[in-house]
Amino acid sequence: MIICIGAGPGDIGYLTQRGAELIRNADVVAGFDAVVNVVQSIIPPTAEVVLMNYRDQVAQLDLVAAAHHAGKRCVVVFMGDIHFSGFQYLERVERACGHPVETLPGISSAQILASRAKVCFDETTFITFHRRGDLTPFKRHLVHVLNDGRNAIVIPCPWDAARSFMPRHIAAYLLENGVQPDHPTEVWENLTRGEAEWHGSLAECVDKEFTDMSIMLIRTHTPMDSQIEPPPDTSAKSAEVA
Ligand SMILES: C[S@@+](CC[C@H](N)C(=O)[O-])C[C@H]1O[C@@H](n2cnc3c(N)ncnc32)[C@H](O)[C@@H]1O
Repeated sequence: MIICIGAGPGDIGYLTQRGAELIRNADVVAGFDAVVNVVQSIIPPTAEVVLMNYRDQVAQLDLVAAAHHAGKRCVVVFMGDIHFSGFQYLERVERACGHPVETLPGISSAQILASRAKVCFDETTFITFHRRGDLTPFKRHLVHVLNDGRNAIVIPCPWDAARSFMPRHIAAYLLENGVQPDHPTEVWENLTRGEAEWHGSLAECVDKEFTDMSIMLIRTHTPMDSQIEPPPDTSAKSAEVA
């Protein structure tokens, strides 16, 4: 058995009960060091822990797949939620196993950001640059999202200088592509543990440095009007009472 689970964005308090149960009953718990650290306190002492990093992940996932094929209960822990910026890692797990694997959603850094910044998913688009491959279609889509009057929640790309697409690069790219400089913009770091937040405009973001553990919100200029029923008219009642 093998299952991929979202461990939440940093604090074990955000791990789901189902995720915790799977880890407590696992023979093998695998994942990137920082993510396994989040769930360390509930890994059974009998479990084998398979740690990995960007360089050795393929070889380490082969070990996990072998344990799975030998009948061990294996859990691969993902940062936040698997379904946002986790699918390339999921693809590697599935390639190692040779078949599709089950997933258990977790709480994403995007959800925590939405909660802190009070933005509604319905009016917001999620884009990640934290992925391998051509980022051009994602960059183009971000311009369309903002031009279409939606908010954007964006995971930057923190890798090497050649590829890095951090909030300041994202802001500069958007300005070069005609997006207005006064979009309200926020960058949140280390959500759920030692949080920091920055608020300003897109233009002010172009010279700001943030750590790898950051997520960005670019708000629309034109938030949607309320579309619920008008509030009850209390004026008639007040007149009656008077
Ligand atoms: C590969 S992506 C995985 C995102 C994850 N699947 C999620 O749902 O949050 C990793 C990036 O997500 C962002 N991130 C994850 N956890 C975060 C947190 N607690 N606070 C701020 N950003 C976070 C950072 O930009 C980090 O480099």
